[in-house]
Amino acid sequence: MTPGAVECAPTAERPGRIFTGPVSGRDASCSGRRHGPVRHTTGGHGPEHVPVMLDEVVEAVAPRSGGIYVDCTFGRGGHSRAVLARIGSEGRVLAMDRDPQAVAVARELARCDPRLTAVHARFGTVAEVVDAAGLAGRVDAVLIDLGVSSPQLVQPERGFSFLGDGPLDMRMDPGVGVTAAQWLASASEREIARVLRDFGEERAARRIARAVVAERTRGAPIATTGRLAAVVAGVVRGGGPRTRLHPATRTFQAIRMHVNDEPGDLERGLAAMPEVLAPGGRLVVLSFHSIEDRMVKRFMRGDGTVPVLPRGLPVTHSARPCGPMTPIMPSRRPGANEVATNPRARSAVLRVAERSR
Ligand SMILES: C[S@@+](CC[C@H](N)C(=O)[O-])C[C@H]1O[C@@H](n2cnc3c(N)ncnc32)[C@H](O)[C@@H]1O
Repeated sequence: MTPGAVECAPTAERPGRIFTGPVSGRDASCSGRRHGPVRHTTGGHGPEHVPVMLDEVVEAVAPRSGGIYVDCTFGRGGHSRAVLARIGSEGRVLAMDRDPQAVAVARELARCDPRLTAVHARFGTVAEVVDAAGLAGRVDAVLIDLGVSSPQLVQPERGFSFLGDGPLDMRMDPGVGVTAAQWLASASEREIARVLRDFGEERAARRIARAVVAERTRGAPIATTGRLAAVVAGVVRGGGPRTRLHPATRTFQAIRMHVNDEPGDLERGLAAMPEVLAPGGRLVVLSFHSIEDRMVKRFMRGDGTVPVLPRGLPVTHSARPCGPMTPIMPSRRPGANEVATNPRARSAVLRVAERSR
């Protein structure tokens, strides 16, 4: 296979057959791949990502022939491909991601499969994206698989991980916003401590913040992942006697969430669901730590995340209070087998709610 080419997933009904949709207008390079071995590639855009709780997510999304689905976090498309395999020739998947590398993979897949539309956007704008596609209020299920993908983590130049040394970037969209290094070079000690405490639940938040500011005061601002990990390790002994966490795990998570405004985007994305989903449509969310899971749980139960609206002011469609969502099953966690083969799944929590009819 040529670098950059994508092999599309076969259908569930007809394993081995690649396309179920209309093929006219497809790129010529897609032809010749209609039959053949099942392969799930990333089209040369970095390593693969193993989709978490794939069977459970598919069961929750409940894809049906002709259905309309939104994957807010395409990543490498593991979940999207499984949905595409079950929606027949008339179904549609609208895939979003804020990472240009992920969107490049989605666009290559879309070249082969016209049922897929790839959009480079953060899911906080899902209402606008769905509206522009003419699908507002018609979506059968929305999937949000939070956090970072394996390809993002293992590329040292993206700056997400302390496992390899690289520039301290951490932006999911490297074209937007300030890097983690820029933020650490300018934020106050108090602000750094707040972020580490609020988003990382880091007990040593103040000591770490003090150490970061001390480094930059002595003319050595922290510019690489290795330096940040070393500074944190100099202050924090470890993740605790009962965990094998690297001492910098919580710090990296917190700074990544802050730099990408992850909680803000999640709040905006959740609030948009009533206008995105069809009545009875499903919201399926995989979250990986307690702050996000709390936001999702509250939203699904109808007791959180809806903004308090100013009295008497005109309210835009997307800012109006949402109609009720109803959780339709207890939260689920991955099984021991999955965690053993994919440690990234270990903290996953799956929640599913339905838009009231
Ligand atoms: C855990 S991965 C998704 C993996 C995907 N389900 C798969 O099977 O390959 C999370 C993806 O969501 C993207 N992402 C995270 N936050 C986002 C946001 N607010 N808006 C859009 N994409 C986001 C990341 O760039 C990353 O590609």
